[in-house]
Amino acid sequence: MTEQAILQIMDIRKDFSGLEVLTSVNFTVGANERFAVIGPNGAGKTTLFNVISGKFPATSGAVLFKGRDISSQSAYRRARMGMARSFQITNIFQQLSALDNVLAGVRSHQGLRYNLLRRPHHDQRLIELSEAILERIGLQDYRDVPAQELAYGQQRALELGVTLSCDPELILLDEPTAGMSRKETEDAIQMISRVTRDIACVIIEHDMNVVFTLADRISVLHYGVILACGAPDEIRCDQKVKDAYLGEDES
Ligand SMILES: Nc1ncnc2c1ncn2[C@@H]1O[C@H](COP(=O)(O)OP(=O)(O)OP(=O)(O)O)[C@@H](O)[C@H]1O
Ligand SMILES: [Mg+2]
Repeated sequence: MTEQAILQIMDIRKDFSGLEVLTSVNFTVGANERFAVIGPNGAGKTTLFNVISGKFPATSGAVLFKGRDISSQSAYRRARMGMARSFQITNIFQQLSALDNVLAGVRSHQGLRYNLLRRPHHDQRLIELSEAILERIGLQDYRDVPAQELAYGQQRALELGVTLSCDPELILLDEPTAGMSRKETEDAIQMISRVTRDIACVIIEHDMNVVFTLADRISVLHYGVILACGAPDEIRCDQKVKDAYLGEDES
């Protein structure tokens, strides 16, 4: 990899009162890379995201972000440094329009209090910023539509828009297409691909079509260890991965 690393996961171990969930996880994500983490249910993928984002500390090992050891930094601090996480549960204000949802995120990032009693449309610059985000997530035509009237896939897109409002350099996406129809998934692939053109992304996903379409590199997490890590073609052909996870139908 020639580009500089944005994220380095170094020998991460995580136990929950004696239950070892992550044993020794190592990988590096490049500054402009789409990196996927796959593996069976209970493999430790979400736990890994919790350690990366600072929800809880690793038992041992280190997380480096932009070359700095952030292992002891809070989740808030990591977010301020440019690491954003999109949650499994849709995390938007249902009554607010698509624009106002993104605007609330933008204002919060800029340190401005969102005033629910006063429509904050006086700051044209922040509105333009929010409109640009709506365009990135493909919701520019739904600017004034309340979130609750959007289709499920659009709500997930809006959630990603709120995530983008803090201008991240790395986004962590945990199963972004879970529960989506085939058409919604296709749209989500396009949108994620567009959004991550100039930022790094780590994506946890069970849908192999999504993984193999989007990812520059894939790592396979199995019982707390990385079984294999490489380009999609390498992973597809890896016998260990086929035996443990993909099965013959993916070959
Ligand atoms: N806070 C916690 N306390 C105790 N055990 C936990 C905690 N979080 C996760 N675990 C355990 O760690 C293991 C891995 O869970 P995790 O949610 O990381 O898996 P996953 O790979 O994300 O699975 P899935 O694909 O189903 O989302 C599971 O056995 C789970 O019960
Ligand atoms: Mg999970």
